[in-house]
Amino acid sequence: MTKRSPLSIEFCGIAFENPVMLSSSPVSNTAEMVGRAFDAGFGGVVYKSIGVDSVESIHPSPRMASYDYHDSQLTGLQNVEQLSDRPFKDNLADMKFLKRHWPGKVVIASLMGFSADQWRELAVASEDAGVDMLELNFSCPHMTVEGSGMEVSRVHTLVEQFTATVREAVKIPIMAKLTPNITDINEPAGYAKRGGADAISAVNTVAGLIGIDLDGFVPRPNVFGKGAAAGYSGPAIKPIGLRCVSQLAQNNDLGLPLSGIGGIETWVDVIEYMLCGATTVQITTGVIHYGYRIVEDILEGMTYFMKDHGLDSAGDIVGKAVPNIVGTDAFDLSRQGVSVYDLDRCIGCGQCYIVCQDAAGQCLTWDGQNRRPVMDEAKCLGCMICSFVCPVANPPLITYKEIKAKPRIIPPVSK
Ligand SMILES: Cc1cc2nc3c(=O)[nH]c(=O)nc-3n(C[C@H](O)[C@H](O)[C@H](O)COP(=O)(O)O)c2cc1C
Repeated sequence: MTKRSPLSIEFCGIAFENPVMLSSSPVSNTAEMVGRAFDAGFGGVVYKSIGVDSVESIHPSPRMASYDYHDSQLTGLQNVEQLSDRPFKDNLADMKFLKRHWPGKVVIASLMGFSADQWRELAVASEDAGVDMLELNFSCPHMTVEGSGMEVSRVHTLVEQFTATVREAVKIPIMAKLTPNITDINEPAGYAKRGGADAISAVNTVAGLIGIDLDGFVPRPNVFGKGAAAGYSGPAIKPIGLRCVSQLAQNNDLGLPLSGIGGIETWVDVIEYMLCGATTVQITTGVIHYGYRIVEDILEGMTYFMKDHGLDSAGDIVGKAVPNIVGTDAFDLSRQGVSVYDLDRCIGCGQCYIVCQDAAGQCLTWDGQNRRPVMDEAKCLGCMICSFVCPVANPPLITYKEIKAKPRIIPPVSK
């Protein structure tokens, strides 16, 4: 008997060799590309979204722009890409090829119809091509066809109707991919469940505007003088993805398995999504930035993490943080703390003093002779804002300790 890999996991009754997939996008556009990703170690793919051929897909040019923050490239990525540029039959042939040559890997077709008939046609053809599962794209924020993409997530009855159409047409599991651009992601999720969805994936891109060219006054990407609020992805959206996944995981009425997406680049990101309730995860921008090879470090890091925590199975990670994610009204306010300075390692830059003066409790004074902060613990708010700007980070110079004291109230300026 072959030994089961600790990274293997079951999702919607399908065995995954590991939980890490490519998400639907240009990184999952052809069989040749996906085959290389499988060889690098990805456990599965959600193939680039397909529509029926009657829907012409001519993309704006350019279709993406990078959001760089200071020296950090691709902190985020903005795109206006819609469905696959390739003919429907070529995509089906490619997915069939992938299943034939990599039978141990999971192939999920991502579909987008613009009518019930189209959803049915796409679903049946994909099932016939041998894919393991379907993802229904109810979430692209920049579709040009009215009543499609994220507009479906916002009209809950459409979510139910299209999901039910696909449910009636095929036997394989189906997953609804939802938008974060909505007040409560659990609303469309509930309708997807009523329509017969077996799982939810979240999130698709966040609607954003990454910047304006100061000479031409045009948003980026600049498509010959015009730009649009469109799909924003990458590390900058991870907090939004984690929030959405954990909200879905906390919804006991939903009770569906989750696939987590948004800003994943490292094994830490993957574990965080799993701790928040995702059974599988999906990646695009991380691959755009670094290539398929990122999966090697991810799988190695996950393996070490599991060993360190005495976990035998990746499934044991899923949802472990969910009970600790509470409303802010559930915090224990009887416990308070302050920041602690390891001044032997201080470089005297004064950043902590400036931020404490300008944005916190003014508990620091500045010893100009020795170039060191001087702390009055009784005045510290314990907000830790000083630690966010301290450049000595590894290990951090400023840490936190609990104290037995009441929080300080800042007195009025004059009495
Ligand atoms: C250029 C580009 C094209 C995308 N195309 C699709 C698509 O066809 N279908 C889909 O469901 N999501 C699409 N996405 C969204 C991704 O699958 C993913 O949900 C999103 O990028 C967040 O993940 P990330 O931060 O790892 O990129 C696209 C994203 C990008 C950047």
